[in-house]
Amino acid sequence: MFSTSTRSMDSLVRFLHSLLSMNNQIMTRQTDLRRIIDNLSSAVLLFDAEYRLQFMNPAAEMLFAASARHLLGQGVGELLFCPSGDAEHNLAKAVNSGHAITERQLSLMLPDQSQVIVDCTIIPIQDSDQASGVLVEIQQIDRHVRISREEHLLSQQEAARDLIRGLAHEIKNPLGGLRGAAQLLEKELSDLALSEYTQIIIDEADRLQSLVDRMLGPNKLPDIASVNVHTMLERVRNLVLAESGGTVRIIRDYDPSIPEVHVDSDRIIQALLNIARNAAHAISDQADGWIKLKTRILRQFTIGNIRHKLVVQISIEDNGPGIPEQIIEKLFYPMVTASDGGTGLGLSIAQSMINQHGGLIECNSKPGETMFYVMLPVECTNAKD
Ligand SMILES: Nc1ncnc2c1ncn2[C@@H]1O[C@H](COP(=O)(O)OP(=O)(O)OP(=O)(O)O)[C@@H](O)[C@H]1O
Ligand SMILES: [Mg+2]
Repeated sequence: MFSTSTRSMDSLVRFLHSLLSMNNQIMTRQTDLRRIIDNLSSAVLLFDAEYRLQFMNPAAEMLFAASARHLLGQGVGELLFCPSGDAEHNLAKAVNSGHAITERQLSLMLPDQSQVIVDCTIIPIQDSDQASGVLVEIQQIDRHVRISREEHLLSQQEAARDLIRGLAHEIKNPLGGLRGAAQLLEKELSDLALSEYTQIIIDEADRLQSLVDRMLGPNKLPDIASVNVHTMLERVRNLVLAESGGTVRIIRDYDPSIPEVHVDSDRIIQALLNIARNAAHAISDQADGWIKLKTRILRQFTIGNIRHKLVVQISIEDNGPGIPEQIIEKLFYPMVTASDGGTGLGLSIAQSMINQHGGLIECNSKPGETMFYVMLPVECTNAKD
């Protein structure tokens, strides 16, 4: 499983040494170095000679879902628990050999007991004072799998959206004529009882018209402004509460440090509302039903092929029966529904509005636990029409 490695981290460490060995401008160099390490997408952990954690970068904080402040000083055994082997032993092996070693496809147990598949590189280092330490670089492999799935998902959704827009336009055009003709016909009818039929044509044309309007989405340019995510979520919460007559239990788990996002707030509220309404509908028959609105910040997160420094993750969770298996794969396609009277447009509209902001929606569902994640980049995105 182990192999000697000449990986990107090796060159980074060499770079680190060369920077640190220069006595002049050392402070500036350290700042440069810090910036590089903070922006790496791999988790970097530095242990001292006693294998106690000295440093971890933001990607490592993300992976372990804990701040460096809480984890500094912890022993390697407490932190890097691999069911397949002894982390301390592997570290010692790297130090003794003097070479970097890599273990691929390692199953790593995280503090929340979840397991992730990672490539792990252990690099023995010695600084200018001859004090030794060990640098550990961890790359999450299942994340790569997810990124390519997201790309696939985004292109699939774009194709579906184009198809639906084309179809909606084609339906919209003759609809006006159909309705107008039915109205003219109604005026010419000598037998008033027959107007019942023309009224059916008019009502159905109106129903189709509003369906098509929903499919086509808003016909004005997005109105982008800086908005607090929690203001939008509170609006969604109030609307869902009002619609249910105050019977739904909504739990809030907000991270107050989340910065503002640059979005068209009406559209984002609409998207979140479509998801939250589904959740409220799913738990409507359950006495112990709840919805949880949660916000978190993700660092160095890739959406499609763009890596963002900061992404806001909004999760809308419920403990309802879960999404029926037969629709889960095509959930975000228009007209996919498993609820009576549903048009199957809510999620496709939500997806399209989030995509317009360079974001992404993901869903995980099993009986008793359905989670929708909305990811929105924090930096200004040019929302598309
Ligand atoms: N939280 C959830 N729990 C269980 N099933 C869900 C949940 N969210 C969505 N679904 C399922 O996904 C389907 C599609 O949802 P979507 O919002 O796109 O359409 P809809 O709710 O049927 O109709 P509408 O256009 O009125 O929103 C729903 O019919 C429902 O079966
Ligand atoms: Mg819906």
